[in-house]
Amino acid sequence: MTTRHLDARNPEQRQQAITLLASGAVVAVPTETVYGLAADASNPAAIARIFSAKGRPSGHPLIVHIHDAGQLPRWANSIPEQAWRVAEKFWPGPLTLILPRHASVSPAITGGLGSVALRVPGHRVLRDILKTLDTGLAAPSANPYQGLSPTRAEHVLAGLAGRIDAVLDDGPCEVGLESTILDLTGDTPRLVRPGPITREALEVVLQQSIENDSGQTAAPGNELIHYRPRTRACRVSGEKIAATLAWCQQQGLQAGVISYSDLSPELDRLPALYQLICLPADKAGYARQLYHAMHELDGTQADIILVQTPPIESEWSDVMNRLQKATDLLSSIT
Ligand code: TXA
Ligand code: MG
Repeated sequence: MTTRHLDARNPEQRQQAITLLASGAVVAVPTETVYGLAADASNPAAIARIFSAKGRPSGHPLIVHIHDAGQLPRWANSIPEQAWRVAEKFWPGPLTLILPRHASVSPAITGGLGSVALRVPGHRVLRDILKTLDTGLAAPSANPYQGLSPTRAEHVLAGLAGRIDAVLDDGPCEVGLESTILDLTGDTPRLVRPGPITREALEVVLQQSIENDSGQTAAPGNELIHYRPRTRACRVSGEKIAATLAWCQQQGLQAGVISYSDLSPELDRLPALYQLICLPADKAGYARQLYHAMHELDGTQADIILVQTPPIESEWSDVMNRLQKATDLLSSIT
C-alpha cells in the first residue's frame, strides 16, 4: 500500500483524511502529545488494521479520542464525579482517563478489559476531525510496536510507510510526550502513566491522593521495554559523559549524546563524539524535543546514544519514566 502524505494546512487534504477515516482506513493524525495512528473506534475492521500496521499484539488496549467530555456516556458507564471534575479542568489536553467501559465498546479496543481509556485531545486539527466524524477515534502512538513515539510526520513515515493509508502532517507536536493516564475505575485514583499533567496538579483537583500503579493493572502495553530507538541507548549522569566517551573510544564506538546542559566545551574534542544535541533545560522545552533528538540520532551512523540523566524532580517524572523504558543504565553494559 502507498501511504499518502497529506498536508493538514490544505483543506482538501484534511478532507481526504476525514474521508479515509470514515471509510475504515488507518490514518496517522497529529495530537498535541505525539502522532496517533487513528481509526474509527466504532468499526472493528478498522481497529484490526491498527494492530496489524503496528505489529501490536491484540489484547493491548487502545485510547479512544473523543471531541468533548459530553460524549463520555457513549463510551463509559458509571462515570464517577471525579472524572467530570478532572475533565472540566484538563480537557481538551494531555490526560487520558480509564473508566468502566460502555457495553457497546468493542473488546478489540479494550483488550477484553472491563474498562476503556478516553481522551479529549487539544490539537485543533484533530478536534475538527472528531467534530466532523462524530465518532471516537481509537489511536495508539503511530510507531511500530515498542518503537519510539513519533512527534513529526517524518517519524511516522520512517516507521510505518507502506503499512498505513496516510499521515496527516501538521508539523511538530507541541507537547512531545504521551498523555498522563489516570485510572478512575477503583476506590482510589491510580496513576497508570505519568505525563504532562502532573500528579500534583491532578491531586489538587481531585482533593485526594493518587496511588502509584503497582504494575498490577491489567494494562498490557504499559510494559518495561517500550519507546526504544533501534540504536542502543543509555542514560549517563552529566559528569560521567566525558569518561563514557573515553570508554566508547576504547570500544571503537561512535556516540550520539543528548544533553540538557551545555557540555560542548568538555566534549567537543573527544574523538568518540559523533554528534551532540543539547536540548532546552526547562522540562516543557526538553519534552517537546526529546523524541525528535532520539529519532535523529537513531538515523545516523552513531553506534550508541548517550542520554544525560534528567533532574530527579517530580516535574520531570514523565521524562524519567520514558527514559527508563527507552534506555539502559550505562553500568549494565560497561
Ligand atoms: O498521548 C497519548 O496518549 C497518545 C496519543 C496518540 O493520544 N497515545 C498513546 O497511546 O500513547 P498508546 O497506545 O501508545 O498508549 C496507551 C497506553 C497503553 O500503555 C495501554 O496499555 C494503556 O494506555 N491503556 C489503554 N487502555 C487501557 C485500559 N483500559 N486500562 C489500562 N491501561 C490502558
Ligand atoms: Mg505507544
